[in-house]
Amino acid sequence: MTYDAASSTAAAPSRETHTPPTAPHLEIVPVAGRIGAEIRGIRLGADLDPTTQHAIRQALWRHKVLFFRRQHHLDDAHQEALTDVFGGAPVPHPTVPVKPGSRYILELDSQHGGRADSWHTDVTFEAAYPKVSILRAVTVPAAGGDTTWANTVAAYEDLPAPLRQLADTLWAVHSNDYAARRPHASEADRERHRTVFASTVYETEHPVVQVHPDSGERALILGHFVKQFVGFNRFDSQRLFEIFQAHITRPENTVRWRWAEGDVAVWDNRATQHYAINDYGDQHRVVRRVTVDGGVAVGLDGRHSVTRSKVTRSSDVALEGASSRRAESTTASPVA
Ligand SMILES: [Fe+2]
Repeated sequence: MTYDAASSTAAAPSRETHTPPTAPHLEIVPVAGRIGAEIRGIRLGADLDPTTQHAIRQALWRHKVLFFRRQHHLDDAHQEALTDVFGGAPVPHPTVPVKPGSRYILELDSQHGGRADSWHTDVTFEAAYPKVSILRAVTVPAAGGDTTWANTVAAYEDLPAPLRQLADTLWAVHSNDYAARRPHASEADRERHRTVFASTVYETEHPVVQVHPDSGERALILGHFVKQFVGFNRFDSQRLFEIFQAHITRPENTVRWRWAEGDVAVWDNRATQHYAINDYGDQHRVVRRVTVDGGVAVGLDGRHSVTRSKVTRSSDVALEGASSRRAESTTASPVA
């Protein structure tokens, strides 16, 4: 099925104030029933005209993940500039060093622990976590290494009413200090996680249900950074978490992408979770990610997410309110 951007925008109300009078024809081909669409015939770049950029953003809010095949013209700088298309400034990962020679790129290299094989939304241990992630495939295994995304808006809407009402009232603590909860991680991975990814430990409270600022939809904020629910002990938190996560990641709610080198996937990080399938053994896989800065999440009652603590491991000095966007070391990149 193919349809144009003008018709696709009707179901996804935009909060953008400057709507172009006409949307261009974009060839949008849904990949799965509830999430994901391929955009064909586009040479992705920050030089796309404003009307086309607007239509791409509308398609993103609607489909949650967009795929652009074989964008071989893109280099790291071009990829960083793509954040303009998706309505915000690039932002580096808060703890993992950027790829040398780049300003904002997080490189996930399978030979250096970059295997994000756990369901998550990027960087939810921060109150203002990225609104959009842009991932480019550089080296792809001959077989395996697909990525799967899940639609957290559809998951919320499909919850039985009593569970939805419970979710509406819940808040959860998200932290990047979660290595012990990764059952498949090696000792080396755990140590790398502790010294790099969790070199500064965050604890942030998010509403479990947020109002998406661009689409107006309600979405669940959960994933592997959840430590526990506010007001619940670890035991009950784990069981509640499993119930909600199972609704998010049910196969009907997902899309899976078989990467080719040069492919770009862009996801609405406020309406999805993702999982990089770790089924390619010793084959080499390298992907590079740029994220678009996002605002602080807002719950149904208008309350904003808040970072309760932010502590460096080396000095154990609280950094609440301080800016430490970029780490200085150049070691490897664990799960993002
Ligand atoms: Fe990720």
